[in-house]
Amino acid sequence: MIRISNLYFEFPAQEGSAVQVLDGIDLTIADGESVALMGPNGSGKTTLARCLNGLLQPTGGEVLVDGLNSSRADDLNEIRRRVGMVFQNPENQIVSTTVEREIAFGLENLGIEHDEMHRIVDEMLRKFGLECYRTHAPHLLSGGEMQRLALAAVMAMSPKYIVFDEPTSFLDAASRKAVFPMIRKVNKENNVATLFITQSPEETLHFGRLLILHRGKIVRDGVPSEIFADVAAMQKIGLNVPAEYEVNFYLQKFSDGKLSLNPSDFLPIL
Ligand SMILES: Nc1ncnc2c1ncn2[C@@H]1O[C@H](COP(=O)(O)OP(=O)(O)O)[C@@H](O)[C@H]1O
Ligand SMILES: [Mg+2]
Repeated sequence: MIRISNLYFEFPAQEGSAVQVLDGIDLTIADGESVALMGPNGSGKTTLARCLNGLLQPTGGEVLVDGLNSSRADDLNEIRRRVGMVFQNPENQIVSTTVEREIAFGLENLGIEHDEMHRIVDEMLRKFGLECYRTHAPHLLSGGEMQRLALAAVMAMSPKYIVFDEPTSFLDAASRKAVFPMIRKVNKENNVATLFITQSPEETLHFGRLLILHRGKIVRDGVPSEIFADVAAMQKIGLNVPAEYEVNFYLQKFSDGKLSLNPSDFLPIL
């Protein structure tokens, strides 16, 4: 279980005052849970993701991963192994010259012995449909394949949790769609808890629980359909809801007589 208590994170001042990015977050993510996180640009999503796997240490409060404390230097390696990260742009994450070496990279660093490493690499190539690219240079893969490779390399380390930081934002529509069955598979088959960060309200509907981050605070935590039912609250913090919720919202307003037939009233949904 990941347990975050009263988490504050502040970037040191460059000029002027320091920037308080995370503002007293309390959050628990259970083993095997599948959670989405949405918030406006600059609300602190990436900073929270980085705090979860110890890339950043809290300036207040604490982050515990299965009891390991990210503020303790001795716990950091194990936290980073348990909490895998898949970033927005897989190109920034990929470090090796071939697909198979990329998957082996983290295992080599852990000192996993040779035969076991090969077994895991083969398993990941198969599982993520990358066998035919085994000796290919990663940068020649398509965006969707590269994202699959990033996930395969993370999964090779047997993480208990994976944070996906807007992994779909550089993908075309077809590759985007393919991401969700893959995440569901690692969630269901390997019981990996997933935190999926996105700007797309539609994408959050793939997850059982949705968190809304606004100015460094979690302002909503619940079932996506219930959160999106409150369209006005979401609009207030500058977030869209999935199209069907928005259409319902305006139809309801119309039937309540609160909306005239002025076409400009419908502009938000056109
Ligand atoms: N290295 C940094 N130094 C100072 N401020 C930063 C740094 N990284 C991010 N920030 C600021 O922290 C805030 C939150 O950033 P971030 O976590 O990346 O938000 P999000 O991922 O939700 O867009 C933003 O206001 C951003 O400008
Ligand atoms: Mg971000």
